[in-house]
Amino acid sequence: MCGIVGAVLREGSVLEGLLEGLRALEYRGYDSAGVAVGADGGVSIRRQAGRLEALESVLADGALEGARIGIGHTRWATHGPPTEINAHPHTDGGGRVALVHNGIIENYLELREELCGQGVEFLSATDTEVLAQLVGRELAAGAALVDAVRSTLARVRGYYAIAALAIDDDRALVCARQGPPLCLAVVAGGAFLASDPLALVRHTHELVFLEDGDVATLSPGSYAVVDAAGEKAERPAVEVELDEEQAGRGAFAHFMLKEIHEQPDVLARTAFDRIDEVEGDVRFTEEGWDAECLRSFDRVQLLACGTARYACQVAAFQLEGLAGIPADVDYASEFRYRSPRLSERTLALAISQSGETADTLAALRLARELGARAGAICNVPESSLVRAADCFLMTRAGPEIGVASTKAFVSQIVTSYLLSVAAGRARGNLDAGEGRALLEELRLLRPRLAQLLSRETHARIAEIAERHHEVKGFMFLGRGIHYPVALEGALKLKEISYMHAEGYPAGEMKHGPIALVEPGMTTVVIANKGPLAEKVRSNLEQVRARGGQVICVGSDAPSLALADEAVEIPETSPWLAPILSVAPLQLLAYEIALRRGCDIDKPRNLAKSVTVE
Ligand code: F6R
Repeated sequence: MCGIVGAVLREGSVLEGLLEGLRALEYRGYDSAGVAVGADGGVSIRRQAGRLEALESVLADGALEGARIGIGHTRWATHGPPTEINAHPHTDGGGRVALVHNGIIENYLELREELCGQGVEFLSATDTEVLAQLVGRELAAGAALVDAVRSTLARVRGYYAIAALAIDDDRALVCARQGPPLCLAVVAGGAFLASDPLALVRHTHELVFLEDGDVATLSPGSYAVVDAAGEKAERPAVEVELDEEQAGRGAFAHFMLKEIHEQPDVLARTAFDRIDEVEGDVRFTEEGWDAECLRSFDRVQLLACGTARYACQVAAFQLEGLAGIPADVDYASEFRYRSPRLSERTLALAISQSGETADTLAALRLARELGARAGAICNVPESSLVRAADCFLMTRAGPEIGVASTKAFVSQIVTSYLLSVAAGRARGNLDAGEGRALLEELRLLRPRLAQLLSRETHARIAEIAERHHEVKGFMFLGRGIHYPVALEGALKLKEISYMHAEGYPAGEMKHGPIALVEPGMTTVVIANKGPLAEKVRSNLEQVRARGGQVICVGSDAPSLALADEAVEIPETSPWLAPILSVAPLQLLAYEIALRRGCDIDKPRNLAKSVTVE
């Protein structure tokens, strides 16, 4: 949800570095982009609607080369359409400051009215311009940039990460954080800021993470931070493990495809060194998950959004089935708007890839306020969610750049499986032998998943996509632990191909959705061997009987034989089977989107991390 960068150098030119940073952050938003650089006592701003390439071609004239200070922004529109005029950076009427912003200023209308009443003219529809105007007024009254930013933010309600440069000062940048992430890289010749370490690790792996309420001043080779109370704050640099290679696409056409194919390795990275084969148990290096703690809960309240919420639904099956703990799942965005009853014996467990999803963060904070222990399963160690939690487990999926989540989902299911086995062992629900057998399934799953992602299966799915990419719509059906997979299959397809797709529990189909079934409508049925196989098969037959086309994904041979199209998946433990059933659905969505000419890694209207409510 918008990416911001900034750089100030002792010598040289900031422009190419700003653009490189924005390229790394484009996953956060990509409907418009802009930069401002300070030079010769003035500032030059270039902004463009559309992708970063549009801005790059405007900058190709070289006019902004040579500046030593600058800020940049890639936008996911919240206030006002993605036009050039609404693109960041924004300035004040007097041209004293240039400012970029990620987040939302909740009281911007009130502030805007006040400023309009004083004769200020606004050019854009954004909430950000209010900040630029307020900072500009403070500068006009003689304040230093850092003080101008601080007094402006004191008047503001909302979530933001901002960066600003004053037009008459090419030696210092000021940035601030309240909510969305912001980190700094400070080296001898310069200082840099960005919304994500991905944009900074080419300078150094020693990064500084700002905390909520911090305002920082950056100069070449140095930085200073004041906290929310206005006190000087120590924010030492910490070593970040991030492989730049991991963030590249390698030989794959899209990040999404690369990330789908990384899943077998992700599974191994998430699980293998946490398995204690002797005890048939799980050893987490993260604190707060010892046996005593795992015995202390009488209930788990799972909270998340989107794909991570479907992972929560799978986790609820695992926690109840393996550990015998009652588990409920809620949309993080809804949780706050009922009257949740939690106690100190509740584990509130938020699942999030980014750890920055505003609704998930707010839900976990509320759960904590209501007395629950706040746990998180997350992919980003420095994220706000990890910081807000009492205890956390890292999913270790590595950077996920494709906007449609794939490997993060798999890593979340593996992590919740590990947690469920650990809790089952701690609570006496599983003995050592059962624990050992369950954990062995993880080791067996890796080659099965790799086999499923083979060239042959992919080619088969591509053929299916060729026959179905122009149908009227899709319905995805699954039962039990595969119902969330049906939801995820539908979400993947609609996100990246813009086709209408619905996910349903297979048994629910006859209560309404069956009315949609007709020739030209495709139903994807997840049908695995096991106690529900016959029931799913009869749902499949009901669709076929009404002329609907069926794609069957699963290990149940009779169901596969009944379908128009079949993708066979290997058998595995029922608690892990969603990992195998989701992989073909990810590839199906990918192949359909490809045929429909969609921008797979950057689907329209979406952004990778949703830091607004
Ligand atoms: C779907 C997708 C979203 C996210 C959701 C939560 O492909 O990526 O539905 O799953 O926005 O994001 P995180 O996991 O970062 O909290």
